[in-house]
Amino acid sequence: MKELLTYFKANEERYQKELTEFIAIPSISADVAHRKDISNAATFVEKQLKSAGLKNVKQYPTKGNPVVYGEWIEAKDAPTVLIYGHYDVQPVEPVDKWKTPPFTMTAKGGKWFARGTADDKGQLFIHLKVVEAYLKNLKKLPLNVKVIIEGEEEVGSTNLAEFVKNNLKKLSCDTILISDTNMLGKNKPSITYGLRGLTYLEVSVTALSGDQHSGTYGGAVANPIQVLAEMLVKCKDPKTSKVKIPGFYEDVVPLTKKEKTELAKIPQDDALYAKNLGARQTFGEKGFTTIERTGARPTFEINGIWGGHTGTGVKTVLPASAHAKVSMRLVANQKPEDIAKKFIDYFKSIAPDTVRVEVKKFENDGFAALTPLDAVGMKAAAAAIKKVYKKDPYFTREGGSIPVVADFQQLLGVEAILLGFGLPDDNLHAPNEKFDISQFKKGLETSMHFLEEYAKLK
Ligand code: BES
Ligand code: MN
Ligand code: MN
Repeated sequence: MKELLTYFKANEERYQKELTEFIAIPSISADVAHRKDISNAATFVEKQLKSAGLKNVKQYPTKGNPVVYGEWIEAKDAPTVLIYGHYDVQPVEPVDKWKTPPFTMTAKGGKWFARGTADDKGQLFIHLKVVEAYLKNLKKLPLNVKVIIEGEEEVGSTNLAEFVKNNLKKLSCDTILISDTNMLGKNKPSITYGLRGLTYLEVSVTALSGDQHSGTYGGAVANPIQVLAEMLVKCKDPKTSKVKIPGFYEDVVPLTKKEKTELAKIPQDDALYAKNLGARQTFGEKGFTTIERTGARPTFEINGIWGGHTGTGVKTVLPASAHAKVSMRLVANQKPEDIAKKFIDYFKSIAPDTVRVEVKKFENDGFAALTPLDAVGMKAAAAAIKKVYKKDPYFTREGGSIPVVADFQQLLGVEAILLGFGLPDDNLHAPNEKFDISQFKKGLETSMHFLEEYAKLK
């Protein structure tokens, strides 16, 4: 493996050049105007898999964006690792908040800045380069590797489950390896063993058939923004942050003792945490720590709210309707469809007679996912981290979602190992997204060791 480390070092400049090219493709899945870029990104990945030495490399069309797949399955009697990543990225608005152009990868202070550097192009790139290093230098891998890179993660991986269902044999494996999450810190390596699920809806409250003069009619009919605000307040208790939708917590699996012990090891300074966010203090569900609140507890969040006059200056208007986008982050074993239904029923039930309520559900649902702490892949990942970071990893739960992880687990019957190299200050989905170059380099080594360790342990 020495030669691989030498190879990594010797190829650093090329890695940066190739990643810059990948990043320059604005593959934003949320915007149909970027269809061509999605296709270009898929083609870029296809070429990368081929040049890494993978076999049977192909783009598979879906109802949405193409899936790119490749494999090297020549290690007889060895286990198989399925590596997953996503080549699509989030939109870049607000563009004026970016200090460097969002699709020009810029190295500054040991970090690469651009959309997709951490989420997920830069992270998935790690594994492609490790596979390449093995196949170029040793002509083989320590085990069988299958790679699946998709282009719809940021919009809920709507079509990936069907692809998996139709390709169970092709994707059969012993474990899944994903780098699309964070570590707790540069010197606080961690492995994520849980992801939250998600359901996302838009609500509209209408009081009038059209906007009216707020002087002529104000006071005589309901104001839909006022009504919407009142209804939203009824969804989450302002004091305890408990979600008030009936049955919301019914299926929540509580933390085990072992998990509580693991989570309690994580050094957490709430004051610093708040400061880093520019928040005055932390705030959340009564009775739980910050770590528990983001990882192991479900929440109800208002993502956006609008209606009436929000432009410059004054306009005295009584708006016809008001809207909000709301989402609920879920934990095992809550079911997205069921929770969405519970929300819709409740939301309609609390509407006063003065308004009409409409609810639209988006199709980016995802189940929460959990990987047992004693899974073989977890042990391999922990050993790999120890080799590179010279420290035992913490075990954490991530508050974000990767909807396809639960699908993979259900359909393929294997655990997913979330070995992410991002950091909490990477500005995912925000202006000035970055990826620490040192994390990329350590990622190469860690991924290499993971494959070795997994081949040994399994
Ligand atoms: N890579 C993220 C998941 C994530 C978020 C990991 C934060 C670590 C920290 C993933 O790309 C993502 O953004 N998922 C979406 C899913 C949604 C669009 C269905 C999310 O969590 O909002
Ligand atoms: Mn991601
Ligand atoms: Mn993302």
